Amino acid sequence: MCGIVGYLGKKALLPLLVQSLRQLEYRGYDSAGLSWFDSQSNQLKTVKATGKLQNLANALPPELMQETDATHPAYQLGIGHIRWATHGTPTLDNAHPHHSQNGEIVLVHNGIIENFATLKQDLQGKGYVFRSETDTESIVHLLEETMKQTAENTPFIDILRQTKQQLTGAYALTVMHQGSPERLFATRQQAPLVVGIGLNNDEFWVASDVVALVAYTNKVLYLEDGQLVELSPEGLKLFDADGQALSPRVETIVTGPLTIDKKGYKHFMLKEIYEQPDVVRNALSGRLSAVDAPIALENDAPYRSKQHGDSLPKTLDALVADVDRLVIIGCGTSYNAGLVAKYFIEQLVRVSVEVEAAGEYRYRQPVLTPKTLVVAISQSGETADTLEAIRQAKTSGARTIALTNRPDSSMAREVDAVIDVRAGVEVSVCATKSFVAQLVALQLLGIFMLEQRTPALPAQLALLPSLKQALLRIPVQMEAMLSDVDTYHKLAKKYAAYPSFLFVARGINFPVAMEGALKLKEISYIHAEGYSGAELKHGPIALLDEKMPVLTLLAGGSVFDKMLSNCQEARAREAQVIALTNEPIPDGYADTFMDVITYPACDELLSPLLSAIPLQLLSYYIAEHLGKDVDQPRNLAKSVTVE
Ligand code: AGP
Ligand code: GLU
Repeated sequence: MCGIVGYLGKKALLPLLVQSLRQLEYRGYDSAGLSWFDSQSNQLKTVKATGKLQNLANALPPELMQETDATHPAYQLGIGHIRWATHGTPTLDNAHPHHSQNGEIVLVHNGIIENFATLKQDLQGKGYVFRSETDTESIVHLLEETMKQTAENTPFIDILRQTKQQLTGAYALTVMHQGSPERLFATRQQAPLVVGIGLNNDEFWVASDVVALVAYTNKVLYLEDGQLVELSPEGLKLFDADGQALSPRVETIVTGPLTIDKKGYKHFMLKEIYEQPDVVRNALSGRLSAVDAPIALENDAPYRSKQHGDSLPKTLDALVADVDRLVIIGCGTSYNAGLVAKYFIEQLVRVSVEVEAAGEYRYRQPVLTPKTLVVAISQSGETADTLEAIRQAKTSGARTIALTNRPDSSMAREVDAVIDVRAGVEVSVCATKSFVAQLVALQLLGIFMLEQRTPALPAQLALLPSLKQALLRIPVQMEAMLSDVDTYHKLAKKYAAYPSFLFVARGINFPVAMEGALKLKEISYIHAEGYSGAELKHGPIALLDEKMPVLTLLAGGSVFDKMLSNCQEARAREAQVIALTNEPIPDGYADTFMDVITYPACDELLSPLLSAIPLQLLSYYIAEHLGKDVDQPRNLAKSVTVE
């Protein structure tokens, strides 16, 4: 689920592989490793290290790390991996690459082999000794066993294909075989893998994300589920799961190299929080130009459909015109963004909206019709649960849209239409700017749906000019908010030692409370929950005493007074009540709040765009105060490509 790289060509190998892994590093990982073919000894070599990639770089032979492209006339090949452990702790033995028992096959794997226990038992029965606790090791021994069972001289790609038939689960694999010294093999099943192609078709890169190879080439082949590829100086050979040769659909991508630059900020998370005013401007640009102009929303379908003239991308107006129900699916922060959209779209567009965590949705038998529009929200576009849920929706005949920050992702390639949230690359594992960008994209989609609806809803349409005006004001309001960080420094110092937090809100800010709690637990490891103020008295109030901070979101509007009452209830139990508000607190509440954070007044429907920011800052400064690894919190990965 973390990162794979591979290279075949004449460039200095180890520096290239390490550099490519660095591009994937931000995604969160626990150990790393490289294998390469050493032509002098005719052997496969492997070096692994736990912890940061730099530990691996330090462990590699210095003379190979110092090579330059000019020093290498001969073909070289190697594979690399950063691991996000699913099976077995983050130890050296469990780190990838993994070797076959005879040492002749080596591979890296992203994903989970679901039938590994059966395979392992079977292979152990045949004498294979497992050196790791991983599911991955069963694949490499199975490759060796398949090879034993197959006629001599069977091409290795066929061995890989036959082995693959025995695997269930999600996997991207890149493999080397000592008997095939100038060949790299790769395959994928429900986990992303892309091949980069050099100018003369004799140099190749493999990566689990295109960002690892865009520094070297812009010609790529996105592997599809089930496909296998063999790369050699003679070229690229692509096969389907039955071994039939396929002609590769090579694409030219426009993404530039990923610049991993903190721009003077201490962490990417802080930089990304500060980018939010521009993220909103960018998300609105060309889509909301004037208060009296309709929203211009286009299908930002991926390159492939455009280049290869597949089925023509559907226009968004055709997709939304007669929709009678919306289903929004996502995970984590993206799910929370969907929950905010439910309040926004139901109130404004008067269409029923269901929101569900994708991992649950995919195991239900939901009722879908051709008039249901299913919107998958995913920053990465690779989240396994969301991807599978949208696939199911598609097979049930529903219309599908992916709202993503990666229009080149797997998800974007499988849906009827794509809305690019345009947040720019988000490096910190903790989602901040992508949440705000998702909210803007969902708000634009809602307004767009209202404007496309027949018969028109005049009363609702009359609300739009002032709403659009308010939306255009958001970036400047955000800038004003971001100019004060002292408040958060002070609050962080005061509250960092509390072991547990409640975030409480009602209405459209209730999901923001959930998002605030997610931020805090994710990066500071402090327990936090988001609750509806209405639900407080149905259980969670039992937790309240002077040791419990309760951060309350009091946005001006329909539920302001109700929230004030909930704050009183919390204070009556001696909780440390903190207000986050954009409305003056009425007289008589002086003793209710220990601290008050204010933000600019705005339309209640848009308030989540602003109320999210203090919660991001508070979490950031608490985690920073506690000395946590803010950008790569423990146990988390940026892109969750396993179930
Ligand atoms: C957010 O801070 C989290 N890291 C996580 O909840 C994330 O939002 C979730 O894994 C979904 O990812 P996606 O948007 O890429 O699908
Ligand atoms: N399941 C494998 C392991 O635990 C692969 C993990 C990954 O995708 O990084 O080692």
